[in-house]
Amino acid sequence: GPLEEVSLPLYFGWFLLSSIQDKIKCTSMDFLKTLDTLEAFKKHLIDFSGKAEEVDLEQYFQPTGILHCTTKFCNYGKAEGAKEYAEKQAVKDFYGSIFDLSLSALFVTPRTFGARVSLTEEQLQLWPADADAEKQAESVPAAASMPLGSRAHVTLGCAENVEPVQTGVDLLEILTLQQEGQQGEQVEEMELGTLTYYGTGKWLLNLREPISAPACFSSFYG
Ligand code: A2P
Repeated sequence: GPLEEVSLPLYFGWFLLSSIQDKIKCTSMDFLKTLDTLEAFKKHLIDFSGKAEEVDLEQYFQPTGILHCTTKFCNYGKAEGAKEYAEKQAVKDFYGSIFDLSLSALFVTPRTFGARVSLTEEQLQLWPADADAEKQAESVPAAASMPLGSRAHVTLGCAENVEPVQTGVDLLEILTLQQEGQQGEQVEEMELGTLTYYGTGKWLLNLREPISAPACFSSFYG
C-alpha cells in the first residue's frame, strides 16, 4: 500500500558529522580560491563561462545542503532496486553506525564540485551490489567497467540549474579517462596535492593527505 512505499527514504548514505563539515567547507573554499588565481585555470576559463571572462568559483558553485555520500538513491521506493537495498543485511546492521570516510581527491567541472570518497572493503558492503548506483548515472557508458564504488563522492556544490546527481557522473567521467590511460596535464603542485587537468573543464586535485571524515550511515527523507 502507499504507506509501505513512503517508508523508503529519498536516499541512504553517510552523513558527515558537523565538526568535519565545517572543516571540509573551509578547505574546499580555499581550494576554489586558489584554483581561481592559477594561470593554468585562467587559460581554460572558456570551459566555465563560454567566454574568456573571469569567474568567481566561490559564487559559481551553490552549496547543496548537508554534506553526505549517497550510497543508494531510493526515491521513496520508486528507484530500481530500492527495496532490495533497504533489506540488505549490511544496511540493517550498520544503520546508525559511524564510519571514517576517506576523501582522497577534490574535483571541479563546469557543472559540479565534489570530493572523491575511497571506500574500504567494509564500507563497500553498503554500496549497491549490482552497480545500479553506477547505472543510475546513465550517461557514462564506460562506468559499467569501473570498480564497484568508483562513483562514491560528496557533492560540495553545483553550478546554477545543475542537479547534484551530476557530480557522480562527472567523477566517473574523470576516472574513466584515467582508466583509459589519459594522464591528464599535471599543472601544479599545490599545498594540498597535485592538480591535474583532464580537458573540457575537468580538474582533479589528488590530496596528498586524504581527509578523514567521520560520518553516520543513515537515510534522508526530505
Ligand atoms: P549526490 O549524491 O551526487 O549529491 P535530490 O535532492 O536531487 O533529490 O538528490 C538527493 C540526493 O540523492 C543527492 O545527494 C543526489 O546526488 C542523490 N541523487 C539524486 N538522484 C540520483 C540518482 N539518480 N542516482 C544516484 N544518486 C542520486
